[in-house]
Amino acid sequence: MNAPHVEEFLTLQEIVAAARRNLQPGPWSYLVGGAETETTVRRNRLALDSIAFRPRVLRDVSRIDSTATLFGKKLRLPVLLAPIGGLESIVEGGAAAAARAAAQFGVPQMLSSVCKPGLEETAAAADTTRYFQLYVRGDDAWVDDHVRRARDHGFTAFCLTVDVAMYSRRERDLIGRFIKPWRATAGDGVAFQSGLSWKQVKRFKDKYPDFPLIIKGIATVEDAQLAVEHGVEVVYVSNHGGRQLDHGLGSMAVLPEILKAVNGKAQVWVDGGFMRGTDVIKAIALGAKAVGIGRLCGLGLAAAGVPGLVRTLVLLEDEMRIALGLLGATSYAELTPQHLAFAPPVTEPGVFSAFPHLPEA
Ligand SMILES: Cc1cc2nc3c(=O)[nH]c(=O)nc-3n(C[C@H](O)[C@H](O)[C@H](O)COP(=O)(O)O)c2cc1C
Repeated sequence: MNAPHVEEFLTLQEIVAAARRNLQPGPWSYLVGGAETETTVRRNRLALDSIAFRPRVLRDVSRIDSTATLFGKKLRLPVLLAPIGGLESIVEGGAAAAARAAAQFGVPQMLSSVCKPGLEETAAAADTTRYFQLYVRGDDAWVDDHVRRARDHGFTAFCLTVDVAMYSRRERDLIGRFIKPWRATAGDGVAFQSGLSWKQVKRFKDKYPDFPLIIKGIATVEDAQLAVEHGVEVVYVSNHGGRQLDHGLGSMAVLPEILKAVNGKAQVWVDGGFMRGTDVIKAIALGAKAVGIGRLCGLGLAAAGVPGLVRTLVLLEDEMRIALGLLGATSYAELTPQHLAFAPPVTEPGVFSAFPHLPEA
């Protein structure tokens, strides 16, 4: 790894460039790629880039509060490290490295059940706010075992990712013959994953009424309504970063109608294409409570390990504070959809279109 002094990274673009230098082609393609034509990946960025700002001025923004509160816990930003399986192929220490960065900076980590080291070791690695994300690859007793272990190890919310009924065709991985080690052992539970239905959500809520449940991978108003009817605490709007169903809508394109349908009966979180402070501010202005970062998290870790991800979050925070101030808001409570307008994007959307100065971009 080749960047000991992370303060030398003055922009997120430099972090992305360092990640590209550090990663071998296989892990690089795995981290940045999507499903099939990667249309959903592009639409995530298209939807973000189609939103412009309407700034308000002369509003005394000399003191800005960019902290947030989720489940009663104060956080440095309304940003979470989205679950990433196989982080161990991106950075030494895998999920434990992400946990340390989350703790050092002050945002929650959502741990993927297909990431190493496992639940217990990751929890022991750092004292951070943590949520556990499960791919259901076993029966009810298997799920219950994970719930128990998660609770015993200080995970304060449980997440079911529901956009993986089938595993998609990630063509960059296929073309590069990148056979991920964790995929080799994942086959056993695939039938459970395809068989998942709202029945399991109901069972979870009945059995664990006081353990907040996050349903990740909601992409329509209809499913958001069902999630609310099942009493879930968080509707997590996501298309898996465009890595599952190709030709979906961008997350930010569906967020407004989902927020309207949910109507405050659950929190709404979102991810998909978030690379910049301004991106996060757009989602919060619409009404999302939190934003997940997937690729950006992996890129920060690949750039320079734990300090690299902490630096990524510091730069993201700086961008967010500047955006808040320039919009005339001193906190998220002052942001509203009135700060936003639709405008045609000026860049060709793509996984790195937020970084126009990348070498070779
Ligand atoms: C390398 C990689 C691995 C991922 N693994 C998981 C996973 O194990 N579980 C899950 O729910 N989502 C997983 N995701 C999806 C992310 O949690 C998140 O939804 C997505 O990355 C958001 O889009 P972004 O990468 O553009 O920020 C993964 C994403 C990436 C990039």
